[in-house]
Amino acid sequence: MDFTVTKPKAPVRTAIFPVAGLGTRFLPATKATPKELLPVLDRPLIQFAIDEARDAGIERMIFVSHPSKSAIERYVLEDKDLTETLCAKGKHGLARRLTDAALNPDSHEVQFVMQHQPLGLGHAVLCAAEHALPGPVAVILPDDLILGEPGCLSEMIAAYTQGGAGHMVATMQVAPEAVKNYGVLSVTGRDGNVLWADGMVEKPEPADAPSRQAVVGRYVLDGSIFDDLRGLPAGTGGEIQLTDAISKGTPRVGLSGFRFSGTRFDCGSKEGMLRAILAYAGQRTEFNDVLASRETGLLAAE
Ligand code: G1P
Repeated sequence: MDFTVTKPKAPVRTAIFPVAGLGTRFLPATKATPKELLPVLDRPLIQFAIDEARDAGIERMIFVSHPSKSAIERYVLEDKDLTETLCAKGKHGLARRLTDAALNPDSHEVQFVMQHQPLGLGHAVLCAAEHALPGPVAVILPDDLILGEPGCLSEMIAAYTQGGAGHMVATMQVAPEAVKNYGVLSVTGRDGNVLWADGMVEKPEPADAPSRQAVVGRYVLDGSIFDDLRGLPAGTGGEIQLTDAISKGTPRVGLSGFRFSGTRFDCGSKEGMLRAILAYAGQRTEFNDVLASRETGLLAAE
């Protein structure tokens, strides 16, 4: 089948956010605070993911969470008591910023579904199946922070709409020794920022990796992904892998990789989080002095 031929595509209306993970790499910080609420300076990771989805025109956002992480629900939705209290104190600007950041059920549909057991990313996505709107779905992993304009999902959906493949994954080139940490694309060709592929492999050993194009946490997937996830056996790490369902559907709907333009930070790791905080601070003039003093070694004297 020729997936390079452009076919009209249904719009991408749903985004799924898998947020049930335990965040063990950030303990003890994540003992009582979900890792998705860890701040990059003053903005929780989940806020970046929500804004990216909102900018991409997503209508329905489904959070696949865990009962122990109810703080995510509290964060995502508007807190009218808090905004009223702030307004009563004359802090109207701050109240407005909170209202703008929150998801308002009048403009976006918001749903929470629970993943009670850590059975893998594929299982998390399947938990959202009954709540997804018809057509392709986006999946956003908030741990993977991508800073840039336009947002990764916006530019990806633009490329997805123009291309023929039913599944699209965001990719970046990594060092050979790093492929074992990622899903890796089996690349067959390239057209600008779009890579053609005939499958992907979850966390291969460097010697077995089909390429160095690692998949990062943005996916636009044909609606048939849910059928391909149902009944899928556990794969790498004993988990139900989204990668395996994508590969299963590839001969039928096609697969492409998208080389996004922004900078990605692995905020599931401490090093990545620190890099993200420094990069985000660098975009804000109010932190110029702090960053300059860090470079000149004066920080400890402050
Ligand atoms: C998941 C996916 C993997 C992908 C990665 C991106 O792995 O299974 O294919 O490359 O996210 O961050 P995880 O990091 O959850 O083990």
